[in-house]
Amino acid sequence: NAKKSENGNRQRMWEEQQLQNAMAAKNDNPDDITVEGSDKYDYVFDTDAMIDYTNDDDDLLPEEKLQYETRLAEALETEEKRILTIQETRKLLPVYQYKDELLKEIEKHQVLIIMGETGSGKTTQLPQYLVDDGYTKQGEFQIAITQPRRVAATSVAARVADEMNVVLGKEVGYQIRFEDKTTPNKTILKYMTDGMLLREFLADSKLSKYSCIMIDEAHERTLATDILIGLLKDILPKRPNLKLLISSATMNAKKFSEFFDDCPIFNVPGRRYPVDIHYTLQPEANYIHAAITTIFQIHTTQALPGDILVFLTGQEEIERTKRKLEEIMFRLGSRTREMLITPIYANLPQEQQSKIFQPTPEDCRKVVLATNIAETSLTIDGIKYVIDPGFVKENSYVPSTGMTQLLTVPCSRASVDQRAGRAGRVGPGKCFRIFTKWSYSHELELMPKPEITRTNLSNTVLLLLSLGVTDLIKFPLMDKPGIPTLRKSLENLYILGALNSKGAITNLGRMMCEFPCEPEFAKVLHTAASHEQCQGVLEECLTIISMLHETSSLFIGQKKEAAASVTSEVESDHMLYLEIFNQWRNSKFSRSWCQDHKIQFKTMSRIRNIRNQLFRCSEKLGLVEKNDRARVKVSNSTVYLNGRITRCFISGFPMNVVQLGPTGYHTMGKSSGGLNVNIHPSSILFANYKEKAQRPSKYVLYQQLTLTSKEFIRDCLVIPKEEWLAEMVPQVFKGLLGEKTNRGRE
Ligand code: CDP
Ligand code: MG
Repeated sequence: NAKKSENGNRQRMWEEQQLQNAMAAKNDNPDDITVEGSDKYDYVFDTDAMIDYTNDDDDLLPEEKLQYETRLAEALETEEKRILTIQETRKLLPVYQYKDELLKEIEKHQVLIIMGETGSGKTTQLPQYLVDDGYTKQGEFQIAITQPRRVAATSVAARVADEMNVVLGKEVGYQIRFEDKTTPNKTILKYMTDGMLLREFLADSKLSKYSCIMIDEAHERTLATDILIGLLKDILPKRPNLKLLISSATMNAKKFSEFFDDCPIFNVPGRRYPVDIHYTLQPEANYIHAAITTIFQIHTTQALPGDILVFLTGQEEIERTKRKLEEIMFRLGSRTREMLITPIYANLPQEQQSKIFQPTPEDCRKVVLATNIAETSLTIDGIKYVIDPGFVKENSYVPSTGMTQLLTVPCSRASVDQRAGRAGRVGPGKCFRIFTKWSYSHELELMPKPEITRTNLSNTVLLLLSLGVTDLIKFPLMDKPGIPTLRKSLENLYILGALNSKGAITNLGRMMCEFPCEPEFAKVLHTAASHEQCQGVLEECLTIISMLHETSSLFIGQKKEAAASVTSEVESDHMLYLEIFNQWRNSKFSRSWCQDHKIQFKTMSRIRNIRNQLFRCSEKLGLVEKNDRARVKVSNSTVYLNGRITRCFISGFPMNVVQLGPTGYHTMGKSSGGLNVNIHPSSILFANYKEKAQRPSKYVLYQQLTLTSKEFIRDCLVIPKEEWLAEMVPQVFKGLLGEKTNRGRE
């Protein structure tokens, strides 16, 4: 019972926190946070939870290492010395001592699991050892290293290029979606997201240009990694010279070995210093507030050097916390030492990434605000304090409703232990957990759930079908997805027209695979180019889709203000995005137009690049030609065009249509009908309906559903005519809306 009530308590506090988050997001007024005299957090000190101290005699002592590093820093004067020092730094990494042994094992075995502490040099060093050992045969073969996250792929590639003293994008490159920084016939080390390597199977099912593939961060168990591992297991016998390295943190190594018929595990012992774990005495309702207070407790009482790493759940939370910290620092003025606040999250624009790796200036403390990307993927030197609220944002998919939500959930014990370990890399550290010890031992799951068990599998199923994997049940996987999830994916694909009624892939389905975006978007583009009732709007749809990929870093300040300065009369977020891009294009893609309208120029440039890629792909598939033939017949009136565009999106996202009922918007569909959703304050519709008191549209299509204090839909499109639903997707809407639809109206 005690457990139940604490559970309930935590849940309530959690909900309240979320409500506050949502309010803050809405008003964008930072909560009033005072530092001086503010309530301090009492942490209990937990002696049992000390992280083991491994003591390798031939390792350098921390003081020696510090001295050594200071000497190295001094030697950065000339280029020659720079190369020397970087090479010497490499030799300090734990993995260096095992270089020869590792290479021997790799030679002996086709598959090897490499298990090692974060920061020991697996990601940056191993691939270079393979090059030294001749695996790329003077450029004849490539080595691929996959990462679950874009930021990790790009930042590690940059580091390795630096270590090898080559220009990034030549011998060492990276490939992430919409961005290929490699050079054909030159690149030998290719860091890439796991999703990108998965797509390469479409072009070459044996991956014959690679001599080695390293699946890095495999313990993260992303969907793409799990599928990759299954496909690789299949091609190993056909590619006897291919080496497969799976690198994993300790938690999952054994499971990987079992999956690959008990292949050997190579353990790289890491250097770890003890980390004191502290818990809060009570559950904290507002963990951001608690984290900020803890940051200042550390900053004002603990000596330098000693940087702080804070684990938050996402971009919005990180940016908001950053603003609050800056505000407090501003108010404190010269009364406290300087603080360097650096955010890091998956979508952080590259130009800002390098900041987290720069050495902390003297007399200054670095505070890194990170998502769980800093749990294992990235190593930031100099961290001595970790602050961990114990939450993570995760996909959650409910097959019965067909909906994917982004949920903030408590982390697993394995995750919070990893996070604590980040404090003990350069010396003894401290970890402040913003939850109780009771909660740690009674509430947290042991392990995170693999993504494959909690996500929509439509894309993956389509990809596998196009690779000729028709028996999805027999496909080798470490964890099997649920049958209802598989069934729902097939149903979705059928509705999109990617599969026929026999479950075989259609031409449209194959076309969808060619696009570097979700099949739903590909369907929108296909409809825009070729559907009798609404073709001719391919250009517009390409723009909107490209914009939808980058909405998170589009605006410099508030979206509302930027929107108002661009146009005063849009009904939907989609049309706002279209208008923004078109105006920018009319300004000849100028930087000053962006500045005038408080829009990020760099983001717009990326969008332009995405659009070009999607355009080229549409061209290759013959969609552009079809569209242009139809376009001459299409009127240029905005209402007319918007109608066509809207219908194209209905064809791609029929499951994302919500209906207005007595209690607000709710989802449609036989089984999913009834879930109430709210328009997010960031949507244009929110302002139109709440502030301008326009009459809400009966139907709205959304692009994203997130759960904070309530269900929020973002990036919304107004559907002005009910009959368009059944007209575009009769399989879904005929039954739902009855037969009363009229045909063929514009
Ligand atoms: O993969 P693993 O966690 O074993 O380590 P790694 O990512 O190869 O990092 C090894 C070392 O390289 C870290 O200790 C960092 O000091 C350094 N590094 C860096 O300075 N900048 C990067 N972008 C990546 C790594
Ligand atoms: Mg790594």
